[in-house]
Amino acid sequence: MDTSEKVLVIDFGGQYNQLVARRVRECNVYCEIYSYRTPLDKIKEMNPKGIILTGGPASCYEEGAATCSPELFNMGVPVLGLCYGAQLMQHVLGGKVQRADNREYGKIMIDVTAPDSALLKGVTPRTQVWMSHFDYISQLAPGFESTAHSDNCPVAVAEKPSAKLYGIQFHPEVLHTPEGTKMIYNFVRDICGCEGSWRMDSFVEVQIRDIREKVGDGKVLCALSGGVDSSVAAVLLSKAIGNQLTCVFVDHGLLRKNEGDEVEEVFGPNGPYELNFIRVNAQQRFYDKLAGVTEPERKRKIIGEEFIRVFEEEAHKIGAVDYLVQGTIYPDVVESGLGGESAVIKSHHNVGGLPSVVDFKEIIEPLRNLFKDEVRKVGLELGIPKKLVFRQPFPGPGLGIRIIGEITPEKVRMVQDADAIYREEIDKAAEEWRKNATCVEYTQTDDDGSIHHYRRTDGENPPWMPNQYFAALTNMRSVGVMGDERTYDYAVALRGVSTVDFMTAEAANIPWEVLQTVMSRIINEVRGVNRVLYDISSKPPGTIEWE
Ligand code: XMP
Repeated sequence: MDTSEKVLVIDFGGQYNQLVARRVRECNVYCEIYSYRTPLDKIKEMNPKGIILTGGPASCYEEGAATCSPELFNMGVPVLGLCYGAQLMQHVLGGKVQRADNREYGKIMIDVTAPDSALLKGVTPRTQVWMSHFDYISQLAPGFESTAHSDNCPVAVAEKPSAKLYGIQFHPEVLHTPEGTKMIYNFVRDICGCEGSWRMDSFVEVQIRDIREKVGDGKVLCALSGGVDSSVAAVLLSKAIGNQLTCVFVDHGLLRKNEGDEVEEVFGPNGPYELNFIRVNAQQRFYDKLAGVTEPERKRKIIGEEFIRVFEEEAHKIGAVDYLVQGTIYPDVVESGLGGESAVIKSHHNVGGLPSVVDFKEIIEPLRNLFKDEVRKVGLELGIPKKLVFRQPFPGPGLGIRIIGEITPEKVRMVQDADAIYREEIDKAAEEWRKNATCVEYTQTDDDGSIHHYRRTDGENPPWMPNQYFAALTNMRSVGVMGDERTYDYAVALRGVSTVDFMTAEAANIPWEVLQTVMSRIINEVRGVNRVLYDISSKPPGTIEWE
């Protein structure tokens, strides 16, 4: 893994900024995201091979809008501005940006007028792009020329090749710009001259070597949740240092059906990895603490605190360790404000507070530079079962925030059984869809740097596939009939949401037949449930979880 050649993505708050970074990495070039507030000296210090300015929500000519130093464009480092970034480049260098009469939004055709443009090399003369802007570049800064335009937008691409400055008014990073990857490739590989030595397959090898070097014969502790990130981190550590690693897995009795055993199968003594695995069966302890509690925030608090207590007790048994492993990944770094601009509310996520109860010297975060799909790739390379690698997000407090009202073992059983059926049927229907799916086209940069268009069906999801789906148990009981008997049982709520960032979400359009199958299986198979509801609320005003 070669991070010596680095491109910086300067974040102006646009929604696709992490995607820009992903695309750069797909060109085998390592990149990092930094806020536009990052001082110029720090940028210089990092010695980037190129800089990309992202989109953003503001108008660059407004007072207080996000900006950058004019010197950024005089460093001799190639700069590519995207959307807001392109406008800002023009604005700062003496061009003019104005509000357009109409917002240009959606798929637009552009005409390339400079066939010899290095940025647009290999791009077809008339190509589709994704536009989303209110402002437009009405006058170019000195020395720039327009090398592509649309019917409404005179400057879709602006270039000053002598200064290695480029601006693109649309979004090359999204799939609706089919030749966008080609443009990003041209920029980072040809214009910036990056060799493209960032490879995921060398990541594992290099990490193992680095971890060994760092840890020596020290002791390492890892809190394993069974989620993708902590699992991949644990396996990486186990491959590097074997039994010097101890993983503590707390089963709080609020996991999904069979989940505790599945984690144990992989990480326990009969699994394929060498490590010390401690499973703490603390189910009853959590149920006791939660008995009679109905208020959602209180439940969360109890679960969080009890988790820390259990972990603390285990840590005391182990004694002082040298390192504590955390499964932090790159979006966590960016979202916690250390990298880019996106201020995502992450405070309620995961088990904060662990570092304060463990006696350790240093934290190890082996996945800190990776995006989620890169983490999954590493997981597959390490031989972790697919089921674990492609697990849905699952909250730390688990089913504790999917049961309304008091939590009892009986209610946990109902929601676990209903949830398992729901997930099984969704996965089955998705698999069925894949068998009959028409091909999807996409563009990819291969390891040798060549760009190919592929068609594929495998691994694609149906359009209705929710990004997160689970069953929750309402606290409502109602009268029903089952056979000849009158019942007075619970209603299960099914949730399925389409979302990109989990901050806003829509109910997924799951086919009716699938929902019907799920409904009849749940009512037949889950004792204590006589109604099944599908939650069609959006977030906001709803949330994704049910608590
Ligand atoms: P809400 O319910 O807030 O959920 O719309 C948004 C996303 O966050 C997840 N979530 C959590 N994840 N610990 C976590 O690790 C938590 O306490 C927690 N609460 C919500 C939720 O599953 C959804 O993906």
